[in-house]
Amino acid sequence: MKLIFLGAPGAGKGTIATAVSKEYGIPQVSTGDLFREAVKNGTELGQRVKGIMERGELVPDEVTVDLVRERLSRPDTAAGYILDGFPRTVPQAEALAGFQRLDAAINFKCGDEVVISRLSGRRVCRSCGAIYHVKNIPPRREGVCDRCGGELYTRDDDRDESIRNRLRVYREQTEPLISFYRRKSELREIDSAQSVEDSIRQLRPVLQALRKRS
Ligand code: AP5
Ligand code: MG
Repeated sequence: MKLIFLGAPGAGKGTIATAVSKEYGIPQVSTGDLFREAVKNGTELGQRVKGIMERGELVPDEVTVDLVRERLSRPDTAAGYILDGFPRTVPQAEALAGFQRLDAAINFKCGDEVVISRLSGRRVCRSCGAIYHVKNIPPRREGVCDRCGGELYTRDDDRDESIRNRLRVYREQTEPLISFYRRKSELREIDSAQSVEDSIRQLRPVLQALRKRS
């Protein structure tokens, strides 16, 4: 299954993608994670995108498309994948359509208030990238990852000003993708303001139907 996960920052794309990736055995390809990895390793790409990400702006389309094209050329994605956070602009979606055939774009719907409270309380593991929330999905030991014992930190773009900017950028540049995929009859919608378990419960029949079709 070749899937795109769409949705506002904090809608739960990464959290749900991790669970679905495990359950269905298809890799999660998160452009945000790939960029954060590059920043952590201090690569040329990392140095280029660090400031852009901290401000909550988008990395230029050509850079992002090249990164995804390279990632999707690797054999582990041949049978399927979840693109988490890509595409994020109409030109990115058009570029993707030029080299991949998708099964569906799943849009995770969630109101602004929920999104803001999720982002302000998010903690991420520095070692394995596992996602937590101080209130909603707390780790067993404060500041420590349940999965690998790594240190939990607050993402540089989970600060008030950056969150506001990311939401603005989302409205202007990413939201138009909902009608883009609706026109292509590839859009499916999930209410992700509910719990993670309920969102996944709502998603399962959608994925089963796609699986049968492909
Ligand atoms: P990216 O990492 O993709 O960030 P984002 O889109 O802003 O999305 P988030 O990761 O913030 O939210 P999410 O939907 O994954 O939510 P999560 O599951 O973590 O991108 C970062 C930056 O990289 C961009 O700003 C840009 O600069 C650059 N970039 C990336 N892709 C790009 C592209 N294609 N083009 C250009 N630039 C690009 O959940 C959020 C919180 O809520 C967590 O704390 C979680 O524990 C909690 N939570 C999740 N689900 C629930 C639930 N159901 N109930 C309660 N709490 C929940
Ligand atoms: Mg994410």
